[in-house]
Amino acid sequence: MSTVLITGANRGIGLELVKHYAARGDIVLACCRNPASATALAAVGGKVTVLPVEVTDAASVAALGARLAGQAIDIVINNAGVLGPDYGDQTPYKMDFDGWANAFEVNTMAPVRVMQALLPNLKASARGKLVTITSQMGALSLDMTMGFAYSSTKAALNKFMKLTAIELVKDGIDVCVIHPGWVKTDMGGEAADITPQESAAGIVKTIDGLNAGNTGSFWKWNGEVHGW
Ligand SMILES: NC(=O)c1ccc[n+]([C@@H]2O[C@H](COP(=O)([O-])OP(=O)(O)OC[C@H]3O[C@@H](n4cnc5c(N)ncnc54)[C@H](OP(=O)(O)O)[C@@H]3O)[C@@H](O)[C@H]2O)c1
Repeated sequence: MSTVLITGANRGIGLELVKHYAARGDIVLACCRNPASATALAAVGGKVTVLPVEVTDAASVAALGARLAGQAIDIVINNAGVLGPDYGDQTPYKMDFDGWANAFEVNTMAPVRVMQALLPNLKASARGKLVTITSQMGALSLDMTMGFAYSSTKAALNKFMKLTAIELVKDGIDVCVIHPGWVKTDMGGEAADITPQESAAGIVKTIDGLNAGNTGSFWKWNGEVHGW
């Protein structure tokens, strides 16, 4: 049995990750901005504790760390993310800079903030795992000319986590980034390729395979290696 912390747990891929881990009997620390309105999350059975966190707010993330002090966490999943400005407002010709900055805060800086707050918990695990949900759009090897702001936030995230893997392996913590597929969520839209259930099932299996030998990997939800 593992203890798993998931951000953005109230809907989309995060909610499905909660359901998958809860169904196999793991202890789930399900984090969301507004627990009071997280009705779908509250309905998940099993060993699920819902915790409040606004991942861009230093005080909120610090409070989460303080609340969990002394508790070993085996897997931290940075899942919360935003697409940023409307696609038409994040192009080489037109940019909503405030929206881009916010997307950087949520997609790039918040995973680092959460990681740092929970490092003692990960170190307390027999073998901690730090997982961040990225996007194929952050791969420098993939030329999708859309969502320039969003793509750049995930590219920066990827670089940070690739380097972080080299450091954290010394602390017994393995690190990876995972592209969840194009998923039918509020973010992915109805036309997307796969369901949140398919994505989450693949992500859980992929995380099971994370170890010291493959730390620093960039995977797709189905366990295939993704090019950087
Ligand atoms: N769906 C896709 O096709 C796709 C493809 C590639 C990558 N991804 C990545 O997969 C992850 C999950 O995406 P999704 O499709 O499940 O998105 P989603 O349905 O839009 O859900 C996003 C989640 O992130 C939370 N969140 C956003 N900003 C937050 C903040 N400041 N503090 C705390 N929580 C915050 C949201 O909480 P609220 O409900 O409070 O807003 C929500 O729980 C993201 O990192 C996304 O970039 C998704």
